[in-house]
Amino acid sequence: MKKIGVLTGGGDCPGLNAVIRAVVRRAIDTYQIGVLGIREGWAGLINGNVEPLTHFSVSGILPRGGTILGTSRTNPLKSNESMQKVLNNIKKYGVNGLIVVGGEDTLGVASRLHDMGVPIVGVPKTIDNDLSGTDYTFGFDTAVSIVTEAIDRLHTTAESHHRVMVVEVMGRHTGWIATIAGIAGGADCILIPEQPFKINEVAEMIKKRREKGKTFSIVVVAEGVEFGESSGLVTQGEKTDEFGHALLGGVGNVIGKKIEELTGMETRVTNLGYIQRGGSPTAFDRVLATRFGVKAVDMLVNKESGKMACLKGNEIGSVDLKEAISSSKTITPDLYQVAKLFFG
Ligand code: F6P
Repeated sequence: MKKIGVLTGGGDCPGLNAVIRAVVRRAIDTYQIGVLGIREGWAGLINGNVEPLTHFSVSGILPRGGTILGTSRTNPLKSNESMQKVLNNIKKYGVNGLIVVGGEDTLGVASRLHDMGVPIVGVPKTIDNDLSGTDYTFGFDTAVSIVTEAIDRLHTTAESHHRVMVVEVMGRHTGWIATIAGIAGGADCILIPEQPFKINEVAEMIKKRREKGKTFSIVVVAEGVEFGESSGLVTQGEKTDEFGHALLGGVGNVIGKKIEELTGMETRVTNLGYIQRGGSPTAFDRVLATRFGVKAVDMLVNKESGKMACLKGNEIGSVDLKEAISSSKTITPDLYQVAKLFFG
């Protein structure tokens, strides 16, 4: 193996640069393998937008958010022509193996390329922490820290004004950020896609809190809860990305309005949005991303194609890409039960 390629796809995530740095350092220092950086996710392999990565190119990037390679939600599986371009460019640039850093969509493409004979290894990335086969994805810990701090800050203003504060956080399919940051921040109610809820019961709980003398409440809502018109997802228009996902956002406003109506309490909504994804990764995410990057290179060298690096307990291992993308890893009822103990 003389040269490997690395790309980052899908939404950006704190820790991507730590993975890139680890891949470059491991490949060059340990195995004397060259690394080609592929720009803007799969788009870079369709268009031949690539650049060699050296020690110098990855120097100083460990604490930086985002990705020096850029990212996109380009889906080459949308046309045979795009897939052919990807295959041609892999050949043209002499790439003997690919490291693909992404979530379910990006890794879904990786799995298909593996089936077509391309040596490929995945690294699990998403702030949503919803990939199966790994206990944690990098980026999640950073997002949880940001949301926890936001909940702490919202507590003091909620208390001063005797308001209900609705905090909308990311989480398209699952409520990992909402649940973990909600527990850490002492949320009075957490609404997630995995747990259907009745808004009347939420309002009753808030009213009971007020009767007990708690004149404010913090309600954390994952963007993927179904509470739109006719109980659908709340989206920002009809448009979808190349993987068929609508841009979510706004369910907090719908829920906040309803809570104000049902409780008569002044309610404010904060949508934390992209703040959750930006900026420097936590120490935990830097270390996890670094361990994944090192492991991914080892896996390619050891011909473990079609697999994804993963974390089980505190051990780094590997699982089949197909397992990782088969279904979303959801919040277990046990964990939600712990959060629920502190509701109301
Ligand atoms: O995949 C992570 C995520 O943060 C989702 O929770 C969110 O719905 C999505 O990305 C939005 O990202 P973008 O606007 O970049 O498509």
